[in-house]
Parts: sequence; structure tokens; C-alpha cells
Amino acid sequence: MKKEKYGMKNIDFRSDTVTFPTQEMRNAMSKALVGDDVYGDDPTVNELEMTAAKLLGKEAGLFVSSGTMGNLLSIWTHTNRGDEIITGWHNHIIVHEQAGIAQIAQVMPRVICHDNDFIYPEDIEKNIRPNDIHEPHTTLVSVENALSNGLVIPLDIMKANYEMAKKYNLKVHLDGARLFNAAVSLGCDAKDIAQYADSVTFCLSKGLCAPYGSVIVGSKEFIDKARRHRKMIGGGTRQVGVLAACGLLALKKMTKRLKQDHQNAKYLAKELNAIDGIEVDVDKVQINMVFFKLDKKKINEKEFLKQCDKKSILMNPATDGEYRVVTHYWIDKEDCDILLKVIKSCLKTTK
Ligand SMILES: Cc1ncc(COP(=O)(O)O)c(C=O)c1O
Repeated sequence: MKKEKYGMKNIDFRSDTVTFPTQEMRNAMSKALVGDDVYGDDPTVNELEMTAAKLLGKEAGLFVSSGTMGNLLSIWTHTNRGDEIITGWHNHIIVHEQAGIAQIAQVMPRVICHDNDFIYPEDIEKNIRPNDIHEPHTTLVSVENALSNGLVIPLDIMKANYEMAKKYNLKVHLDGARLFNAAVSLGCDAKDIAQYADSVTFCLSKGLCAPYGSVIVGSKEFIDKARRHRKMIGGGTRQVGVLAACGLLALKKMTKRLKQDHQNAKYLAKELNAIDGIEVDVDKVQINMVFFKLDKKKINEKEFLKQCDKKSILMNPATDGEYRVVTHYWIDKEDCDILLKVIKSCLKTTK
């Protein structure tokens, strides 16, 4: 089995961030041409930034350390201190980025709350502040696609949101940490989604297997300004072509295979759904994530966790009783079957 060879001993369903670089990436790292990227001298970084921009239909790109850094730099670059931005209540920038947009960009979020975490054009229109001396200026809408709840926002909603934002002269940032998963799910090019945003951040280090990095794309003027901000927070790095080489392979090779992860997630969800004692909404499996709940009257949860441990299955603890499993390059159908077998072995026998 391929994964032992690379030291991946577990069946790791915690996230697609756990993916190790492929052998091809490791080879590319050793051969990468490099230079001092703060001088703009790293040919591999330059190639990655250009490739990403072209792929997403934008003028320029910027290699950054993470999705968190990409979101922060984008929002900071688009706004002024004290502005208000419209975003979703469960978006990563609100829940998982230590309020960096407040601490560093110094903007205030106005959050939209829908059960599916979507934002609709009416939400944008309703929440733009009037031109009143008491109120902040609304200057940006930040959307996420795919969402971290595993859902994908259809293109017509992306378009309608973008058009509404433009009607009021707002910028649009897209947190596309899993942009390519969204594109696979929608059956379109990533560019088709990116056209409805002024800036996009996407991650190389999730389902695409690169060990490091995200890329921001946008206009040349925007990227030049974001590059200055990156330097200010210590994100100017030197011979990172060794890492950008993996990013290039992520874009050239790994985006195409994401559909396999989606298929495995769908397979897992369907099989879980067939187990009496498991609650899973199969229709909500749109990318590589499956959410499920155990009926504790029917399944021995303690035994389930014990068996997972025994079989080296890693999962994050349940949130509000719900488990999330994520499929990726290092998870295959057999791994899904092992998890299913473990769950089935923990069914309580009814007398
Ligand atoms: C939707 C979304 N945005 C941003 C990020 C942040 O990415 P990173 O972990 O590279 O900072 C994540 C990470 O999981 C994410 O799921």
C-alpha cells in the first residue's frame, strides 16, 4: 500500500490538511530552481504565481504561507481601518482565524446567518450601512466556496452576490481554500467561480497534497499592495521555490483527481446511511466531507472510539454529536470500508 512507504501509518480522516506530499512533489523539490523571493528572484515562485493567476483569470498572484494569511492579506488590502465587511457567521475568517481581520486589518464583520451558511444578494443589500455619520462604511463582501460545512455555492448565487456587491461598489473576496473541490462539484473550471470575486485565496496544502502554501490572485495593483502587507507581517520569504515546486504540481496534477475523493466521500455516506443507527444527509455530501451522527441507543460510541484507535483510524472529536470525516489522496475505498466495518462491529444487539 502506497501510504506506509511515506510514513503515513494511520487512516487519517481528520482533514485533507494531513496529506503528505507525493513522490513527484518530493522529486520536484530537490530539482527546483530558486532565488530570493523578496527580490522577486525565485523563478519557481514566479511561475507558480503566474500559473495560478492565469488559471483563475486574474492579472497577478502572490504565494503566501497559508489560507489564513491569504484571507487576512486580501481583506486588509481591500479595506480601510474601521470599515465593515459582510460575511457568513460560520466562515473560516470568523470562526477559525483568531479575529485576525479585527486585530490586524481592523475591520468589523457583519455576519449573515443561514443554516446552510450561504450568503444571498438580499443579505448584502439589506446589510450595507447607510451613509450616516454614526455608522461604519461597508466596503467588502467575503464569501467562502466550498464552505467548511461541505456545501458548494452554485454559480448563479455567486454571480448574483457579485452583481449586488458591484451595484454598491463593494469589493468581493473569495476564501476558496477548497476552490478546486467546489469547481469539481459544480462541473466547471475554477476560473468560472473566480470571475465572481475581485480576489481569491486558495490552498495548495489541503486536498492538493502540497506541504505548504496558498495563493492569492487578483488585479496587479491589488497584489502589489498585498505583497507589501505580506512583508510587513513577516511573510516575505527567500528560496521558497522548493515549496512552490510542489504548488505547481498541485495545480497541474492534483486538481484533476479530486473527483476521486468526492466519489469516496459519497460512497462512505451512502454506506453509512444504510446502517441503522447512523444519521447522515447524503445529499449534503458535495465535496470530500461527510458529516454523521451516531444513535447512542443503537451504537456503542465508547467501543467505536476504542476500535478506531485499535485500527489506527483518526477522526476529530464530534462537534455537537456530529463527526466529520474527510477523504483525500491518502484515503482510498478500502480505508472507507475499514471505517464502515468498525462502525458495524459496534452496533448494539437488541434483545
Ligand atoms: C474554508 C477555509 N478557509 C481558510 C482556511 C485556512 O487555511 P490554513 O489552514 O492554510 O490557514 C481553512 C483551513 O482549513 C478553511 O477550511
